[in-house]
Amino acid sequence: MPAAPAPGPGPGRPLVDEPGATPAPAGEWAIETQGLTKAYRGGRRAVDGLDLAVPRGSVFGFLGPNGCGKTTTIRMLMGLIEPTAGRARVLGQPMPAAGRRVLPRVGALIEGPALYGFLSGRDNLRRFDAADPAADPRTREARVGRALERVGLAAAAGKKARAYSLGMKQRLGLAAALLRPRELLVLDEPTNGLDPRACGRSGPWSASWRRTARPSFSPPTSSTKSSRSAPMPR
Ligand SMILES: Nc1ncnc2c1ncn2[C@@H]1O[C@H](COP(=O)(O)OP(=O)(O)OP(=O)(O)O)[C@@H](O)[C@H]1O
Ligand SMILES: [Mg+2]
Repeated sequence: MPAAPAPGPGPGRPLVDEPGATPAPAGEWAIETQGLTKAYRGGRRAVDGLDLAVPRGSVFGFLGPNGCGKTTTIRMLMGLIEPTAGRARVLGQPMPAAGRRVLPRVGALIEGPALYGFLSGRDNLRRFDAADPAADPRTREARVGRALERVGLAAAAGKKARAYSLGMKQRLGLAAALLRPRELLVLDEPTNGLDPRACGRSGPWSASWRRTARPSFSPPTSSTKSSRSAPMPR
């Protein structure tokens, strides 16, 4: 993926770690990368010198053809793979070094959810919630119920996940990312399998989703959404 211009206020604005740069006010950026590069085995660069600055309080998407490095970028940002070169900061913290501190503040859905097929949709969400050390078990049922309502799965909540359609599985993954309010939402191909109604007014781009997860970062599908950066409603 070629280096992209900084999308935030003041395109091309230096990143905080750049020598001689005027630092951005603390906490301004949800995501910053500088020269972020990943070469897989064989040496070909999937991501090549990516400079990115995503302001907090924005919705940001990036587009590109299949194989251009979008998911690889997200994996590096989430600390799932190590960059070959360059730096990444998420919510002001270096990744992957600060993953344990940062990831509980981030909701993510990367290339479809990892579900237990033998569990119901509701039990899958209970499991995701139980794995979150910051989630109060006493309020789990209310959180799970709200998330199911939000994605329109309340009526199918008792059905085994293996019997869900593609779009229903995707909705369940989005519900998992939204169980608790997050400072950052990272959604890779969030509209995979969703019907046009789910993608529209009530979908992951809607104001109500943005209110739930305050600043968001959301790479859309490679072909259908235009890239945008817009202020969040406060
Ligand atoms: N684990 C891996 N090992 C080796 N090469 C990989 C690996 N994962 C991805 N790649 C390669 O890196 C490049 C970028 O892949 P990536 O999945 O980041 O693309 P993408 O932009 O997300 O594509 P898509 O739109 O199809 O989701 C591709 O050439 C791919 O073959
Ligand atoms: Mg991808």
